[in-house]
Amino acid sequence: MKRIYLDYAATTPVDERVIDAMLPYFKENFGNPSSVHGFGQISDSALDKSRRSIAANLGAEPSEIVFTSCGSESDNLAIRGTAFSRRKQFGFNHILISPIEHPAVQATADQLSALHGFEVSYLPVDQLGLVDREAFENHLREDTALVSIMAANNEIGTINHLPEISEICRNRRIPIHTDAVQYGAHHEINVDTLGVDLISLGAHKFYGPKGVGVLYVRSGTKLLPTQTGGSQEFGFRAATENIPLIVGMAEAYRLVQEEGPSRREHLIPLRNQIINFVLDEIPASLLTGGSLQHRLPNHASFVFENLDGNLLVQVLDSEGFACSSGSACKTGDPKPSSVLTNLGYEPNWALGSLRVTLGKDTTQKEVDQFLEILPGCIRRVREVSS
Ligand SMILES: Cc1ncc(COP(=O)(O)O)c(C=O)c1O
Repeated sequence: MKRIYLDYAATTPVDERVIDAMLPYFKENFGNPSSVHGFGQISDSALDKSRRSIAANLGAEPSEIVFTSCGSESDNLAIRGTAFSRRKQFGFNHILISPIEHPAVQATADQLSALHGFEVSYLPVDQLGLVDREAFENHLREDTALVSIMAANNEIGTINHLPEISEICRNRRIPIHTDAVQYGAHHEINVDTLGVDLISLGAHKFYGPKGVGVLYVRSGTKLLPTQTGGSQEFGFRAATENIPLIVGMAEAYRLVQEEGPSRREHLIPLRNQIINFVLDEIPASLLTGGSLQHRLPNHASFVFENLDGNLLVQVLDSEGFACSSGSACKTGDPKPSSVLTNLGYEPNWALGSLRVTLGKDTTQKEVDQFLEILPGCIRRVREVSS
């Protein structure tokens, strides 16, 4: 049986061109970029080239690009690093986040609250997951150390309107971070248009390798390192840089810019076909998250009433289709997703979630085949769920 992968928001396969770019740095070009000799200089120049490439693609300066080990680490460094720095500098203790952040943001804020006495407050979001501009302003305080609002949500695909929100933060001189791990995999980012001070990216969501990410740090943003040691990455993150993965990420990110428009043009009609089919053909089904305009181009997410979403994912898998229920982190977890409950879905809906996310090489035939088996799978799962 041919297996069809429809879980590209969880991770993506590494692009062949990315593998080709990385290989020499696993082999002959293995030097430590901090070494003075020729081996080191080759690695250092690859590091510098990768940094310049990512910076140029973000409209940023190379000195604003910090390489990390993943999107989660970028989120951790942004939040913990800024919170501690603002407390040290000004005594500020308040952190403002949305209630539907990825666990890498949520759990970091929770720990800062539980162990370090920060006060975390949550912004209201509407049922689509969009932050309300007016409510946002009302939640800012004199002692707000940091704001973090994701650019696009991994479970429900909603794209937030960050430029408006970041403008408010800029006027109040409050640093704002965005987790763009999903958004940056599909949309070109210009740091000045987005207007935020800190941006997290993770390579494995855009056909790069796992285990490498970026934190964009706007010049002048104060951050305490969370991993201390050597002076790599401008002192923000001690560790010998992982050159093959960084080179691969830079190439994968270059391809996002080069191919972004054509990838979106390919993905959006396939995504819309899935959404329209499900809403028309499957009884008691709802689209979760943003409307077609405010949604990631590859992302279709639903809830089905009175259905076990994890069982549906298993049944689909047995038919050869890999999807997910809620975020990948929730797989096997029978509790409803906190994202969906925070959006107001009752458990009899929230437990029945399905996320279908497409990739640049997903074909029309694969989508047709998926839609052919989906109603039968849902019927079977509903029979045993009720
Ligand atoms: C929105 C979002 N943030 C952060 C992460 C974590 O990224 P990584 O797996 O690179 O640590 C993910 C991955 O699922 C994500 O979707």
